[in-house]
Amino acid sequence: MTEKNYLITGAHGFIGAWVVKRLLAANAGQVVMFDRSADPRRLRLIMDEDEIERTSFVAGDITAANTLPPIVEQHGITHIIHLAGLQVPSCKADPRMGAMVNVIGTINVFEAALHSAGQVKHIAYASSAAVFGKSDDTPQTEDKAGNTGSHYGAFKRCNEDNARIYFLDNGISSIGLRPLTVYGVGRDFGVTSDPTKAMKAAVVGRPFHIRFGGRTDFLYAADCADAFIRSADSEQEGAFVFNLHGETAAIADIIAEIETEVPAAKGTITQAENIMPIPAELDDSAIIATLGDIPHTSLRQGVQETIARFKVLHEQGRLDTADLDV
Ligand SMILES: NC(=O)c1ccc[n+]([C@@H]2O[C@H](COP(=O)([O-])OP(=O)(O)OC[C@H]3O[C@@H](n4cnc5c(N)ncnc54)[C@H](O)[C@@H]3O)[C@@H](O)[C@H]2O)c1
Repeated sequence: MTEKNYLITGAHGFIGAWVVKRLLAANAGQVVMFDRSADPRRLRLIMDEDEIERTSFVAGDITAANTLPPIVEQHGITHIIHLAGLQVPSCKADPRMGAMVNVIGTINVFEAALHSAGQVKHIAYASSAAVFGKSDDTPQTEDKAGNTGSHYGAFKRCNEDNARIYFLDNGISSIGLRPLTVYGVGRDFGVTSDPTKAMKAAVVGRPFHIRFGGRTDFLYAADCADAFIRSADSEQEGAFVFNLHGETAAIADIIAEIETEVPAAKGTITQAENIMPIPAELDDSAIIATLGDIPHTSLRQGVQETIARFKVLHEQGRLDTADLDV
């Protein structure tokens, strides 16, 4: 088997840290991390220093055209998992910067692959369920996307189109994935981070208000990471875009799961009534048909694992709660 060298953009972010962890656990190949932030705090929440030392890190800004090609060349990168990006609130606050990072940054990833003269075999990149607008209550297939309610969703949709053009014009194969509410240790920012913050608040004995209600599609971080790795490893030729689906549940259900794990938190976690303008359930039959069955952790198990880890970090005095204040 030829050696695989992975470049993870946004590796110091939440999903990035989990992708690194799962790649190292699978001994999948060389792991090169790229991020604008040099702060490895999310890696340290879920990995030992010994594990982190098995990776390389390059700091840089993905919006700069000349940043990625030398990294791809020097590290012999064969697979790219592109996660660097700005989330909904940041894109809303500064759409120009949002477009630079989310759209131009993604163009720069494809350009780096293009200029690698075939060395980069495949790209997996983060799209989002935010490409969907308001909808009925049925599981949404990929083709129902459109009418997004955010600049962020518009940028992600634009990336999906650009990925398709890179395949048509240049034969660069890619898979874009659309997660919705990803949760787990390290999730500390963005609209859908509130369920994870509620788990952390329960562990430290603080009340917490989840700023949305209704139902949503919960995806455990480890499963999300595995889907990105599986997509990067795919040898399918083409530009694919797939929904990811975890477990669709009401916010009230996840509060009940948290209360089961931390009985002292009963009644301390509340929720808003407003519903996110994104469908609550994504149909993932397309990715399963193309890549085979993908890992699926139940909401109960995911909440249990997350709270168990938060408890360990809290006991060790390593649980940062700054995200609960905003
Ligand atoms: N977390 C979710 O529930 C979710 C859902 C759908 C889609 N996504 C997408 O998945 C990807 C990863 O999400 P996340 O939750 O890990 O986000 P995150 O905010 O935790 O991580 C993003 C990372 O990108 C880095 N970054 C930002 N601007 C950069 C730049 N100019 N150059 C280099 N690096 C830069 C940040 O430093 C950060 O480490 C994002 O593209 C996001 O839009 C996330």
